Amino acid sequence: MPRSPQRSEPAVHVSPRAVQSEARRRLPPEVYDYFAGGAGDEITLRANEAAFARIGLVPRVLRSAAQRDLAIELLGCRASLPALIAPTAFHRLAHAEGERATARAAAACGAIYIVSMAATTAIEDIAAAGDTSRLWFQLSIQPDLGFTESIVRRAEAAGCRALVVSADAPAFGRRERDLRNGFTDLPPGMCCENLRERLPSGELGRARDIVFSPEISWKHFDWLREITRLPISLKGVVHPEDARLAVARGADALFVSNHGGRQLDTVPATIDLLPAVAEAVAGKIPLVLDGGVRRGTDIVKALALGATAVAIGRPVLWGLATGGEAGVALVLETLRAELDLALVLCGCRGAQDVTRDLVSVR
Ligand code: FNR
Repeated sequence: MPRSPQRSEPAVHVSPRAVQSEARRRLPPEVYDYFAGGAGDEITLRANEAAFARIGLVPRVLRSAAQRDLAIELLGCRASLPALIAPTAFHRLAHAEGERATARAAAACGAIYIVSMAATTAIEDIAAAGDTSRLWFQLSIQPDLGFTESIVRRAEAAGCRALVVSADAPAFGRRERDLRNGFTDLPPGMCCENLRERLPSGELGRARDIVFSPEISWKHFDWLREITRLPISLKGVVHPEDARLAVARGADALFVSNHGGRQLDTVPATIDLLPAVAEAVAGKIPLVLDGGVRRGTDIVKALALGATAVAIGRPVLWGLATGGEAGVALVLETLRAELDLALVLCGCRGAQDVTRDLVSVR
């Protein structure tokens, strides 16, 4: 096969399915199920991926797309590709190096990494391993606001550039795989390191459990705005009316997300909900879509339907489980190469050329 000088494929290209199968082979079954599973009948979980298959790409031709640029700027951070690492809990269950490995891979690839509040590594250690210029922190506002503020201060001091507030967990989703497997606690020696209490001495004490509280409201969002200067994204917004409220309330970006099908089952696929949210937001703030993004073509579809970028959940965990830092980097580089190929085949030089008319929704 003749090789074009613009090709940027990684040395080894992996299919997302193959990495997932390999991760399944390596992980203890209850850990694999924790990562892979969703709430209830997993209707939303399946819908997220299936919906991308129902959307077709209608390419343009002869548009001279030799020079392509996949980089984006989001909330003041420049990233080399429009795919962020979504916040996912417990990376040390996937690999001994856990979140440190993820941070190193993100830094090597120039990707934005959103650290989960439920990380099994302290934010200070993740920051030291990675690149703080693209490090964000996911926060679930705790009803104890003093405690929440102490977490925010740690994220700020570690150098995080933005907060992503998850709004779709006023209660914990009922995940039947975990109930069946009796997967309720982290193994000894692991905890949510970012939930440690600050003792009067200034030292960090024991880690609290995360509280999923139905009392959290827009007032808490306003409070957070008051106490930090970091940009604040709201994650888990799927209703256009909430998107309008979020813009009015001063959110800096929205994550159109159904938590990868792990919270409320039967929420439609995020890619199907994106156009109505994009219409409500009318370009006032950036939108990040997550849920079921597995291929470069999925990213093009999300951009065409109104997203500025996508975020990737499970594929990163599969990469981590199969190869640590190198595994995560391979997943990201494969996505980058697939996106580049999809763009050139659509006649696009970058996100700016990806327009609504490139997709056909069946
Ligand atoms: C998540 N997600 C998540 N979201 C969040 O805001 N805080 C968190 O701690 C977690 N933890 C978490 C653990 C695991 C194992 C998964 C799979 C997901 C949701 C995540 O950020 C994202 O919304 C979805 O994972 C996106 O869907 P895909 O890419 O996994 O299909």
